[in-house]
Amino acid sequence: MTRVLVLNGPNLGRLGSREPEVYGTETFEDLRVACQQAGGELGLEVEVRQTDDETELVHWLHEAADAAAPVVLNPAAFTHYSYALRDACAALTAPLVEVHLSNPAAREPFRHTSVVAGVAKGTITGFGLDSYRLALRAVAAVV
Ligand code: DQA
Repeated sequence: MTRVLVLNGPNLGRLGSREPEVYGTETFEDLRVACQQAGGELGLEVEVRQTDDETELVHWLHEAADAAAPVVLNPAAFTHYSYALRDACAALTAPLVEVHLSNPAAREPFRHTSVVAGVAKGTITGFGLDSYRLALRAVAAVV
């Protein structure tokens, strides 16, 4: 069974209470359950992680590269400026799908740039937890 890492960047652990008008009221635990359910339906073994630490996220990407594991990544604010994260994504050895709960293109100008998008297989934005379900479907279709 293909193992997929669903990696989440800073402040996403605070879903539910964080700006609910933007990110909704579902919690990070709800996100984890949604991904694991979707994975079960798609025949994927899904592991969901979150960190506020750029170094830890880079190390998880190295781990995925070494394991040839596909990655669904919500880089959160790192999306917009972390070249370290982009470089780690570029070195992945299996498909990467970038996801966002909100639609960054419809928000503040600084969110319109993703330094990760250019090294992803594709990007899914704006559908809340469904962004993750759709991303896992995309992974299942290409592995
Ligand atoms: C986000 C969008 C980013 O701009 C923001 O910094 C986040 C969450 C999203 O999922 O919509 O933390 O990645």
